[in-house]
Parts: sequence; C-alpha cells; structure tokens
Amino acid sequence: MCSRREADDLILAGAVSVNGEVVTELGTKVQTTDKVVYGGQTLNREKLRYVLLNKPKGVITTSDDPYERHTVMELVEGACEERIYPVGRLDRNTLGLLLLTNDGDLAKVLTHPSHEVEKLYHVRLNKPLAEEDFEKIQHGIELEDGPIKVDRIDYVVEDPTMCEVGVQIHSGRNHIVRRIFESLGYEIMMLDRVMLAGLTKKKLERGHWRFLSDLEVSMLKRIESRGNAE
Ligand code: URA
Repeated sequence: MCSRREADDLILAGAVSVNGEVVTELGTKVQTTDKVVYGGQTLNREKLRYVLLNKPKGVITTSDDPYERHTVMELVEGACEERIYPVGRLDRNTLGLLLLTNDGDLAKVLTHPSHEVEKLYHVRLNKPLAEEDFEKIQHGIELEDGPIKVDRIDYVVEDPTMCEVGVQIHSGRNHIVRRIFESLGYEIMMLDRVMLAGLTKKKLERGHWRFLSDLEVSMLKRIESRGNAE
C-alpha cells in the first residue's frame, strides 16, 4: 500500500501493529500468519508479480521521476494492481530487457554482485571495432572505478562492417558497457540488452511486456539457491 520509505515512516510513527501490538522497530520480521494492521485495516500479503519489459529508447528506468519525463512505469501501467519496481536499471537510450517486480527478495538476489547474473548486450559502434581493442576488452581493461573484464565478446557474424558486437557481462556497474567502449574512443550508436539471467526477448516486441511463466520464475529463484550452495 506504500513505498518502503513511506512504510518506515509509518512504522516509526507507531501507526502499524502486529498481532495487536504497535511495532516501531524497523526491520521487524513478520510471518504470513501474523495480523498486520494499519489505519484500522488488516493488510494482506500481495500477490508476487514478475513483468518482463522490452524497453524502447528514450524512457528512463525509475519508478518516480521528479522531472516528469517518460518512465518505464508508463509502459507497464495496467499490468497489475500491485506496485512493481524495476530490477536494476537501463540507461535512457538503452533498449531491451528489464524486469519489474514486487518481489523484493528476488530483486535483491538479481542485483547483488555475488550472484553474477549474466546479461548479454548487442552493441553497435560508430566505427569498426579494431581487433586490438577487441582483444583488450577480452583480456580486461582499467576504468576509473577499477578493472573490468567481460565474460565474452564476439563480433556479430551477420555484420560485415565489424561495428556490431555481442558482449556478455555479469557486472552491474553503472553505464558499464558504454564506459568500456568509450574508454577506447568508440561511440555507442545502439545498446540492446537481449538476454537477462537466461530470459530472452523472443516474441516480445519493443515497448511491450509480458508476465514471466511459473517456470521462468522458478528458474530465477534457483539463482539464489545456486549462490547459497557455492
Ligand atoms: N551498460 C550500460 O552502459 N548501459 C546500460 O543501460 C546497461 C549496461
């Protein structure tokens, strides 16, 4: 019924009770069997929603933009009643797969660096990628916030100009793909996230969204247990 930040304020103000007792300590854990009341109403656990969007260019990844620019939230409006949030972010001019959910636990897993969630980007550059730069990227380069090594880089075979590459990476650092190429003097003409944690854009047109299947959700949840097992 509100954002996490607003919930913290309500809890601190003593407006929330659990099993009849006011609880003001942030981070208090409740079970699904506990009775949580705010404003005289018992709160029900939300249904968990998982929405996969094929983001177009020119929209920003935020759930609340003070400048009232176009946001991804407008594109998934009406998908569900629950408040969903983007998991990680894509730059305004980046296209491709973005997951939105109200499952905070899964969002945390997918964005935590220790889980090394794989993403594949289709990149189009302003000029052919020189082989020596290809090799530099393959072996790892130094950026201002530390070294970065991609998991894989390949020229797009269908592109004879050598301006297009596929880059597989698990880093979630800000603008990481753009920064890799810009540091070597290239300009990015197009950046498209075509794979995210095993999910692909198959049958998902630009600007459209779909719910994940139960099978896809359980596949994502396995990422967490994989992390715990290691
Ligand atoms: N790397 C970038 O540079 N931008 C994105 O949107 C995603 C990854």
